[in-house]
Amino acid sequence: MRPKVSIIGAGATGATMAHRLVEKNLCDVVMLDVPERLNPTKGKALDMLQAGPLVGFSTSIIGTSDYKDTENSQIVVITAGVPRKPGMTREDLLHINTQIVRSCAEQAATYSPHAIFIVFSNPLDAMVSVVHRVTQFPRERILGQGGALDSARWRTFIAMELGVSAEDVQGLVLGGHTDVGMVPLPRYTSVAGIPLTDLLDAERIAQLIQRARQGGTEIVQLLGEGSAYYAPSAAVIAMIESILLDKKRIIPSSVLLQGEYGLQDIFLGVPVVLGARGAEKIIELRLTPDELAQLHKAAALVRETISKIAL
Ligand code: LAC
Repeated sequence: MRPKVSIIGAGATGATMAHRLVEKNLCDVVMLDVPERLNPTKGKALDMLQAGPLVGFSTSIIGTSDYKDTENSQIVVITAGVPRKPGMTREDLLHINTQIVRSCAEQAATYSPHAIFIVFSNPLDAMVSVVHRVTQFPRERILGQGGALDSARWRTFIAMELGVSAEDVQGLVLGGHTDVGMVPLPRYTSVAGIPLTDLLDAERIAQLIQRARQGGTEIVQLLGEGSAYYAPSAAVIAMIESILLDKKRIIPSSVLLQGEYGLQDIFLGVPVVLGARGAEKIIELRLTPDELAQLHKAAALVRETISKIAL
């Protein structure tokens, strides 16, 4: 039997994730949305499935609004929620998305009590926290997608600046998935093994850090409605692939810190080994006092956001 991955929320991001996933031939996919959107959700699923003979995959995908169809998923991705509009921050979505994410997590956890949950909805680190409180799953099985995307944006901007392949750029963005909470780490960034700091001066690096932090906001402004979904969906798929294939890739993800980096009981983006058991290991980098201070500031911002919701 193939593994099953359920994607809760079949909007632009959820559907793009489902599309990427089903064509990988890795797992069966269930795409779920509210009953009012059942027909479009089924329609999207059927449309994706019909690419099978052309693209060459035999995995299945269905659209549904019934959580029973998500039963026994290996992975549940929560993308449900409202995206921001130009001028909004991710935190502006806090109250509305808390209600939505809480309800989705409760229902999905009932049918898949052993699944690994990956949360995508914003404000990300607060929403992962909501899912943790609702499900009470061990921390290995609750992850937030933030750092994979933020690191990909950071790597892309560096590649654009240097005129080299993004594939050769390695780098990490830790912290919160917010414009002010992201912590790109130039010291841990390299291009084909060459330290970034050998290739660019401090001023240019600072400009790229700023662009990476505002990477999502730049796209919200350009799109005019909704937020990014091509790179965000690719980020979630990289996490899913590492888990399903037990690849043990190191991908920055939002996880519950219990003493790591001097932080307690807070979800924040740090490098994590992702394997069959979920967040199998948290990597603790030896940060400089300034880098650590940035991480703690990011944690304080997440705490402030969470304090505004009654859980
Ligand atoms: C972004 C949103 C999806 O960063 O959080 O594009």
